[in-house]
Amino acid sequence: MTRTIISTGKASPGSTFDLRTHLGSLELHSPVLTASGCAAAGRELDNYFDITAIGGIVTKSIMLAPRSGRATPRMAETPSGMLNSIGLQGPGVESFLETDLAWLQQRGARTIVSIAGGTADEFGKVAAKLRVAGGFDAIEVNISCPNVEDRGQVFACRADTAAQIIQTVRRNSDNKIPIFAKLSPDVTDIVEIAASVSQAGATGVSVINTLLGMVIDTETMRPALAGVTGGLSGPAIRPIAVRCIWQIRSALPDLPIIGMGGVRTGHDALEMILAGANAISVGTSIFNDPAAPMRIQKELEQELRSRGFESLTQAISFAHREESEAVTETAAGESIDHGEQNWDFISE
Ligand SMILES: Cc1cc2nc3c(=O)[nH]c(=O)nc-3n(C[C@H](O)[C@H](O)[C@H](O)COP(=O)(O)O)c2cc1C
Repeated sequence: MTRTIISTGKASPGSTFDLRTHLGSLELHSPVLTASGCAAAGRELDNYFDITAIGGIVTKSIMLAPRSGRATPRMAETPSGMLNSIGLQGPGVESFLETDLAWLQQRGARTIVSIAGGTADEFGKVAAKLRVAGGFDAIEVNISCPNVEDRGQVFACRADTAAQIIQTVRRNSDNKIPIFAKLSPDVTDIVEIAASVSQAGATGVSVINTLLGMVIDTETMRPALAGVTGGLSGPAIRPIAVRCIWQIRSALPDLPIIGMGGVRTGHDALEMILAGANAISVGTSIFNDPAAPMRIQKELEQELRSRGFESLTQAISFAHREESEAVTETAAGESIDHGEQNWDFISE
């Protein structure tokens, strides 16, 4: 059996661990980002930790015009997660540029601007305004919001409409700006959508947005959300996110992937990285622990060190190696032979 020793793990305590990652041409000093819609533009989080210490801020999806979102109530608790139907509430791109983006620039945070729209033309106009303004590092294109009244607007549910939006955003953006297409897990074949947006000019993909769900209030015996359906997020969706990352990485080995969906700890982040994510976004966890992105970054470093990795890059897609290579050595020099584990109990 081949022995793959991934590292002797002799990094000295106090030394800086190499958490750098690359998303196309974009280099980040850490793979930990905030998830769109869960940290606004980072201003409030900056009261809990230094937002420049994490990989970057992904801003709430911004549209061309101000938008009030859907009616309340628009949050409901679910087992290991939550349902939201915010419906892309926001001040519109002009106000975003003047206040939020200006603040992020002055603060020195790496910024991925999330954009949304009801038509390809609207996406194009928002991208064109961003090109003129500049001062950000990448664009995440939200083609997968489940909280729009007409589900026909979920461009990410079809390969052709997903590609059309990405082409339009690409045409209206600076050539050098990395563009990430945010995909929906509510599709039969997520690889087909990922391949299509990649061909259309996306630098990479962000997976996953929330899944369409519903809760009935058994007191009122009516839907709990005014908008009836909402987006399911939190730890409940993490196995689905890991599966999507795995499938995309298997089919498209070089496509940069930002993984998200229920990341609550460094251990969860590691799982996504092993599945093939180049970076991860933290969303719902921020609502009960505003310092979660910073905590998760520290925990991830520990998880990597304890497995003998010397850099984050070594761990990306590590779960895809052949089973015959699955012999690793821990930081302490102990061998762990994953290849010889007895899995018989699964079929018992
Ligand atoms: C309250 C709320 C608002 C969200 N708003 C957006 C949004 O504006 N744009 C977007 O692309 N995703 C949005 N999302 C989806 C998240 O960015 C993320 O993809 C999803 O929640 C899964 O990650 P999580 O389980 O860590 O929250 C939102 C999620 C929540 C919970």
